[in-house]
Amino acid sequence: MILVTGGAGYIGSHAVLELLLAGEEVLVLDNLCNSSKTALDRVAQLSGRAPQFIKGDVRNRALLQALFASYPIRAVMHFAGLKAVGESVREPLRYYETNVSGSITLCQAMAEAGVFRLVFSSSATVYGESPVMPITEDRPTGTPTNPYGQSKLMAENVLKGLAESDPRWSIGLLRYFNPIGAHESGLIGEDPNGVPNNLLPYMLQVAVGRRKQLSVYGADYPTPDGTGIRDYIHVVDLVKGHLKALDRLEQVRGVSVWNLGTGKGHSVREMITAFEEVTGRPLPHVIKPRRAGDIAQCWSEPGKAWAELGWRAEKDLVTMLADAWRWQSRNPHGYAEPQENTATSSAPLSTALAS
Ligand code: NAD
Ligand code: UD1
Repeated sequence: MILVTGGAGYIGSHAVLELLLAGEEVLVLDNLCNSSKTALDRVAQLSGRAPQFIKGDVRNRALLQALFASYPIRAVMHFAGLKAVGESVREPLRYYETNVSGSITLCQAMAEAGVFRLVFSSSATVYGESPVMPITEDRPTGTPTNPYGQSKLMAENVLKGLAESDPRWSIGLLRYFNPIGAHESGLIGEDPNGVPNNLLPYMLQVAVGRRKQLSVYGADYPTPDGTGIRDYIHVVDLVKGHLKALDRLEQVRGVSVWNLGTGKGHSVREMITAFEEVTGRPLPHVIKPRRAGDIAQCWSEPGKAWAELGWRAEKDLVTMLADAWRWQSRNPHGYAEPQENTATSSAPLSTALAS
């Protein structure tokens, strides 16, 4: 059985689905602070099998001890964490407590139970502002500009020290670039609380009429069209990388670092153009000053994951946007209202707006 912390969240729910489809037994631990149990109900609908679910906190050591004592857990995928950059600036202690202390508590309970295989959700944010593109895993980590990024780097360093202290550990640090998209069914996807921080969720909420226009943060970057460049990766490709990492960690000890990206960068302007083509309507947007803490460009060299895991991203940008749009247009308010249409083709915008 695989323990998936944060398994009701955006990436976690897609990972739970892939694990179930691969025949694994799955136990989800999530306190639902940024997610809905409905995501797991839909995962069960898609896979034909339900994961076990415990509503609880990854910082609760006694609860974790009880879980490891009660279930035959052989490995952990650790998604549980807080991820809103602006909030992390306002509430740094909550971020360090959840993302760093939560990871420590989890590892303590794992070690007590003799479970030493862990896949950790890290982020390309740990590279800081790299002067070299694409970014390989051996680039030095940088200085993240906010407590969220710092918490990911601190957790990575905790896990590295842990693996050095005890050779039984096998830990995969997966550095995600920019996960977007949704399962092709349109049943599960990203459902951010409040005003979205990230580009695609914001574009999607404009397209379904929940927000007036997109702010493009900076058109004066030293990039070909002046807007920021990122490496967007389909969430289903991303979680498939987790399953490959889990397998690989059966054979290797210590800490392994893998970039999960496509190796291709797209600018904000390119994203807007592609989004308009996929949805068939203009996306209102306005140029604004640069956002504090943003970097001009960031994309991965994903060759290490291909060489060592036999994994690479397969879905292109149009597929990412079409799948994201299918999810959002059928669920304009995320998990907050009933699913209307479960067919796999894209719902027209008029239907989504009328619902
Ligand atoms: P998410 O918020 O959708 O999922 C995180 C899940 O963890 C949520 O279901 C939340 O309820 C749960 N959770 C939070 N604190 C918890 C706690 N103390 N105990 C138990 N459960 C808790 O976010 P996501 O996008 O799915 O991200 C998953 C992981 O990947 C996070 O660690 C995030 O930092 C990391 N990550 C995400 C991105 C991204 O762009 N989405 C990029 C890099 C890294
Ligand atoms: C952001 C976080 C990063 C985190 C990552 C994944 C910041 C500074 N960085 O990265 O720490 O790991 O999300 O959660 O918040 N953009 C707009 N308008 C918007 C939103 C974004 O123009 O409304 C632009 C940004 O300037 C950037 C690109 O779109 O060029 C992507 O932004 P975003 O989706 O927020 O991801 P990152 O900035 O890469």
